[in-house]
Amino acid sequence: MVTKVIEIEQIKHELDNDLKKSSLSSDVDKLNTKYLGKQGRINFLFKTLPVKTDPQLGKAVNELKNLIKDKLSAKLSETLSHAQQDIVDVTVPGLEIPQGSLHLVTQAIEEIESIFQKLGFVRRRYPEVETDWYYAEGLNIPKDHPARDDQETFYITNNTVLTAHTSNGQLREMELKKTPPIKMINIGKTYRRQIDATHTPMFHQFEGLVIDKGINITHLLGVTEYFAKSYFGQERQTRLRPHHFQFTEPSFEIDVTCGVCQGTGMVHEIPCKVCKSGWLELGGAGMVHPNVLRNGNFDPEECSGFAFGWGVERVLMIKSGLPDLRLIYNDDIRFLKQF
Ligand code: PHE
Repeated sequence: MVTKVIEIEQIKHELDNDLKKSSLSSDVDKLNTKYLGKQGRINFLFKTLPVKTDPQLGKAVNELKNLIKDKLSAKLSETLSHAQQDIVDVTVPGLEIPQGSLHLVTQAIEEIESIFQKLGFVRRRYPEVETDWYYAEGLNIPKDHPARDDQETFYITNNTVLTAHTSNGQLREMELKKTPPIKMINIGKTYRRQIDATHTPMFHQFEGLVIDKGINITHLLGVTEYFAKSYFGQERQTRLRPHHFQFTEPSFEIDVTCGVCQGTGMVHEIPCKVCKSGWLELGGAGMVHPNVLRNGNFDPEECSGFAFGWGVERVLMIKSGLPDLRLIYNDDIRFLKQF
């Protein structure tokens, strides 16, 4: 009896091993044949062991047979329920795939570009690493001139800088076009040594330059007002304030009415916290200085021009009411995905 019991235990052990390796219902079918089929292990035991003369042994083999049946049918239902999980229900709504979007500065650049395109301006990009000539000297800013301190420039060598404004594009455009008319909008990265709520070391400017016969201040006013109304809203107004730049004469600062107090400077009889005066500064502008025209090989007797250079992030902040510019560049997806 003892050796017989060992045989029974061996079969149990073998079955457990076989079950571990089975995952499909066809595997279970094979085990059914192997253990319970005509030529199977159980029948072999019945045929070879003295079950008739040893009722205890017969009982043990029968118990083994039932155990195998139970285990195989449990395994079969397990494989079938797995198979069911693999069935695709085409009526189930699809999974939402997260969608990226353009960065809000890129969106602003595209919007600015399209506004100026409607007026016939051509989009340009000029170097961010620039030589002193295009960046300063050629723009009527001699070496050692105090105007050089206006911008907190990053110097790369004595003669090269990370450009602190997009005005370097003025001379480059004149060189490229050689003759009037010029109507460019140069949008690019600019760099200054400053960081606070409204300044980041890297930011963007858009620089307009128009040169042709008979260009005057009214053209400058018309274009900048068109931009302000298109970008901020038709109810907005602009104004000129006298200013100084080396490369324009006369020079101005252009302001736009505040969107919070509608230019009145007051909100519910309290001074407006956003602008204090009803106006927000957009940036510099002016009529191209004759020296700059000459440096670009244009004749100031024959043509004239205007230019302006404003911050992309600045107009974006005015329009959207963002409180802190650094949010834009922190790469916090929770903030960025709102745009
Ligand atoms: N480059 C000037 C600045 O960065 C802006 C400007 C551009 C002024 C063109 C006049 C003409 O502040």
